[in-house]
Amino acid sequence: MSLNKKNRYFRKKTERMQVKNICCIGAGYVGGPTMTVIAEKCPDIKVTVVDLNQKRIDQWNDGDVNNIPIYEPGLSEIVKNTRNKNLFFSTDVNKAIEEADIIFISVNTPTKTYGSGKGMAADLKYIELCARQIAEVAKTNKIIVEKSTLPVRTAEAIKSILDATGNGVKFQILSNPEFLAEGTAVQDLLNPDRVLIGGETTEEGIKAQQALVDVYANWIDRDKILTTNVWSSELSKLTANAFLAQRVSSINAISELCEKTGADVTEVSKAIGMDKRIGPKFLQSSVGFGGSCFQKDILNLVYIAKSYGLNEVADYWEQVIIMNDHQKNRFSRNIVRTLYNTVASKKIALLGWAFKKDTNDTRESAAIYIADNLINEQAQIAVYDPKVNEDQIQNDLNYLGTRADDENCQAVNTFKNAYDACKDAHAIAVLTEWDEFKSLDWKKVYNEMKKPAFIFDGRNILNSNELSEIGFTVYKIGVGKN
Ligand code: UDX
Ligand code: ADP
Repeated sequence: MSLNKKNRYFRKKTERMQVKNICCIGAGYVGGPTMTVIAEKCPDIKVTVVDLNQKRIDQWNDGDVNNIPIYEPGLSEIVKNTRNKNLFFSTDVNKAIEEADIIFISVNTPTKTYGSGKGMAADLKYIELCARQIAEVAKTNKIIVEKSTLPVRTAEAIKSILDATGNGVKFQILSNPEFLAEGTAVQDLLNPDRVLIGGETTEEGIKAQQALVDVYANWIDRDKILTTNVWSSELSKLTANAFLAQRVSSINAISELCEKTGADVTEVSKAIGMDKRIGPKFLQSSVGFGGSCFQKDILNLVYIAKSYGLNEVADYWEQVIIMNDHQKNRFSRNIVRTLYNTVASKKIALLGWAFKKDTNDTRESAAIYIADNLINEQAQIAVYDPKVNEDQIQNDLNYLGTRADDENCQAVNTFKNAYDACKDAHAIAVLTEWDEFKSLDWKKVYNEMKKPAFIFDGRNILNSNELSEIGFTVYKIGVGKN
């Protein structure tokens, strides 16, 4: 019997579980928005989001919802509607675990920075700590849902920790990967392309899957809720991100060729994207993809493939990352070359630090690496991002460990608006596609810059004809000289 058939069978045959309490461990970019939308759509379910980080929880509970720690369009309004009604943020992890019927694990899984798998495998220490805490605290049967992006077969590891408690409490582990993209998280959660729920193919497993299907069915069409086995679900998440990232690297590879041949990558994207088999999305050439998922998930895929001895598979996917690194590096090299082979002591303004627009997330943002490369060339960096603050920018650079923290501090200044950042600059690099950059008074910017005034549009969002008319020397990714 197929899983979906089995589902229908058990929906009739088995008693349905009534979910009253949901707990989510981890109040980050995934846990926070996801639980907010569940609370909004399931008013009869109490949703508690817990985190060890007191500051983060305080921010989620801030009287002014504009101060919640994550910026996502539409999120603060929903938090306002639901908070302290059926949505709660707390640091009391044990209490929330005890009360919950379903526990989502939504903690961070960074790439390992030590030991075996360093630089590739996901670090599961936070997941393991969660599993151990649940095992210690739970007194009633629970459904545990993997929400963090995890390597294939992590559910098995969680299960073995939980089953070792020996206190009679039964756990069902489900994999329910998150497909939301930052910047559009609320819309993606309200109206997802699909929801994927992987579970064991036993009667208990299917009953647990069904309980979670019923939660999502409060607002999502049941036809869009897929049930699979755990491993298919885990691997689907990595595969989806690898495919999306591969499209970006593919068009970025073509962008370099465009620059040499006189083609225009935006024209090429449009031409190929109109082929229904290819489709128009994720063909926007850029300074390089960032974000917490793409690189991490591909490295994970590469690590898993290598660990099974599948070297050709590993090499194939690794190339997506190699291409992305190349795109970032060639962008900063081009700035140096264009500015007469030296940027030493020159002010370079970076517009945008977030890894994409409409988010304050900077993880793996291309801007970090562009700034790092330019600081190595002794440039003076000026940054403006509408949602990223100075501390975050310094932390991102310090985390790379390229130089001492105080050297980063001296090399980088952060500004509260684009005009101040660009004043007296030799060159501007647009690194995030924030809408406000399109409508800047570029004449004013030009008048206040050093001449010749260069602009490097790393997102192809500016009107280069208008800029050239003003007097700028414009470089766009993937646009060759005819
Ligand atoms: C991604 C997946 O889209 C999402 O399904 C998954 O849950 C998490 O990872 P996210 O990283 O939030 O989401 O953003 P996404 O829109 O995918 O963009 C990732 C990076 O690729 C950004 O830096 C973006 O600027 C870049 N990108 C995207 C391009 O350079 N060109 C494109 O055409 C699309
Ligand atoms: P993501 O993008 O996956 O949501 P984040 O780093 O934004 O990742 O959020 C993960 C959150 O999980 C962090 O706020 C971190 O403090 C929290 N966290 C990690 N381990 C635990 C734990 N054992 N118990 C509670 N919270 C945890």
